[in-house]
Amino acid sequence: MDNLRIKKRINRGVAFQIQVDGRLVNAYPGETIATVLIVEGFQAFRRTLLTGTPRGLFCGMGYCFDCLVTLNGKPNVRSCITYAQPGDVVERQI
Ligand code: FES
Repeated sequence: MDNLRIKKRINRGVAFQIQVDGRLVNAYPGETIATVLIVEGFQAFRRTLLTGTPRGLFCGMGYCFDCLVTLNGKPNVRSCITYAQPGDVVERQI
C-alpha cells in the first residue's frame, strides 16, 4: 500500500523497517507511527474502553488521544506525535 506516499520531488531518505501487529513494514525518516499505519491501510488504531468503538487518526496533533498504540511494550503512546524509529514494535490496541 506504498501508493499513498507522494512519490515525485520528495527525497525521503533511506527506508527502514518497523513491526506493526507482527508484520514488517517500511517507514521513512520523519514519518510518525500514525503515518506508517495509515499508509499500511490501518484505520483503527485502538478501541474505546466502554463501548469498544474503533478509533484512529483524528486530530493528528496530539490532543484527542484517538491514535493510541502500544509502542515497544509501552501502552497508550500517541502515534500521531511519535516518530517511527528503526526496529520499533507497534501493536494496535484493538
Ligand atoms: S490523532 Fe489525536 S492525539 Fe493523535
